[in-house]
This record gives sequence, structure tokens and C-alpha cells, in this order.
Amino acid sequence: MSKECLTVAMPKGRIFEEAVELLREAGYPLPPEFEDSRKLIIEVPEAKMRFILAKPMDVPTYVEHGAADVGVAGKDVMIEEKRDVYEVLDLKISACYMAVAALPTYNRGCEVAPKIASKYPNLASEYFREQGEQVEIIKLNGSIELAPIIGLADRIVDIVSTGQTLKENGLVEVETMMPITSRFIVNPVSYRTKSTDIDDMVDRLADVIDAKERSL
Ligand code: PRP
Repeated sequence: MSKECLTVAMPKGRIFEEAVELLREAGYPLPPEFEDSRKLIIEVPEAKMRFILAKPMDVPTYVEHGAADVGVAGKDVMIEEKRDVYEVLDLKISACYMAVAALPTYNRGCEVAPKIASKYPNLASEYFREQGEQVEIIKLNGSIELAPIIGLADRIVDIVSTGQTLKENGLVEVETMMPITSRFIVNPVSYRTKSTDIDDMVDRLADVIDAKERSL
């Protein structure tokens, strides 16, 4: 065990439970207060670890700046944020995909620069640039599905997991963009200075992921 404490940035919300379960399966003794409290820093002294609970979009920021040594971040966030961190392992949890959606009545090609609402303005701009389509991106922070219904945007770019949110709001998927899973990310300096602990963590997580895949 290392002398130094390893700080792990965890994403609150959708990914959290699966990430906690994966860490427990990898042998990390995460206490019940992980699920039960509103604390944002949870110390696990017996493992010489500290967990910080951040907004998913902020996890790569904590890791890039070295405020956390490692973290769990969705591929969606990694593409959007483009932070200077190493993406070392596909954790294969919280699988979903990024898609373009619209009202079923939406008639593509009617506007010069259609309005696209998204929590992922960089990812969306890059996508439409690659498609050669000129669009206007409208950045929102959540409840993206509202935008086309209320007339704020023509289409949305968002993650789809069960498809329930699209369905319940009467939207349809018009393009599937890319698959998304959660990634284990590492601060480049920590990767050198705490390599033993980080390599151990990556190995343990990889073993759990491999075992899960084999049992499928
Ligand atoms: C995400 C996403 C969709 C929804 C997709 O929102 O932005 O709205 O989940 O999941 P589904 O396909 O299973 O319905 P989230 O719950 O993170 O909340 P948000 O609206 O604040 O982004």
C-alpha cells in the first residue's frame, strides 16, 4: 500500500451507482455513506483513498488540475471537455449512446441553419461540422428534450439510455451518433508519481471487467 493518499473523482448522478459497484467488486472498501450521505468528500483511510463527488462534467477538470489523481468520466464528457488527462480504461459501465432527435413532424432541410440544443456544444458542433451541415448550437444544462417541444430548437443532441425520455416527450431519434461508456481517467503527473497504486487500480478494475465479459 502506498504512503500517499490517492484521490478519486467520482461522477454524481447517472453513472455513480454502477461506478461504486465496480469499485467494490474490484476490492475497494467503499463505506455505506457513499450512497447515504450528501458529503462531497469521503475518506477511506484503510485504503489510503479519498473520494470526491463531483458533477459528471467536472470530473475531467479535477483530474486535469491534479485535484484528483484519477476519476470516472463518461466518454460523452471526455469528448465535450477535451481535458489533458489519460483515458486508460473503458469501464464498460453506464452504456448509452449519443443521438440526434427531433419531433416526428420535423422536416429536415427547411432552415438555413437549424437550431440544435445540447448539453454538449463542442461535441455537437464537431459532429455537424464533420457532416458538413451548418447549424446553430444552443447550449442548455439539462432537460434538453424540452427544447424542440417548446420551439427553442429544431433538433437536440443528447444521450439516450433506455429511450424513455424521448418517448415520453414525443421525440424520435433521427441519427445515432456514437456509443458511450464510462472511462477511467488519470492525471498525467499522478500516473508517474503514484504509478504503483494507479497501475494496481487499473489492473483490479480490468480484471473485474474481463470477468464480467467472460460470464456474459
Ligand atoms: C439524461 C439525458 C436524457 C436522459 C436519457 O438526462 O440527457 O435526458 O438521461 O435517458 P433515457 O434514454 O433512459 O430516458 P439526465 O437524467 O442526466 O438529466 P438532465 O435532463 O438533467 O440532463
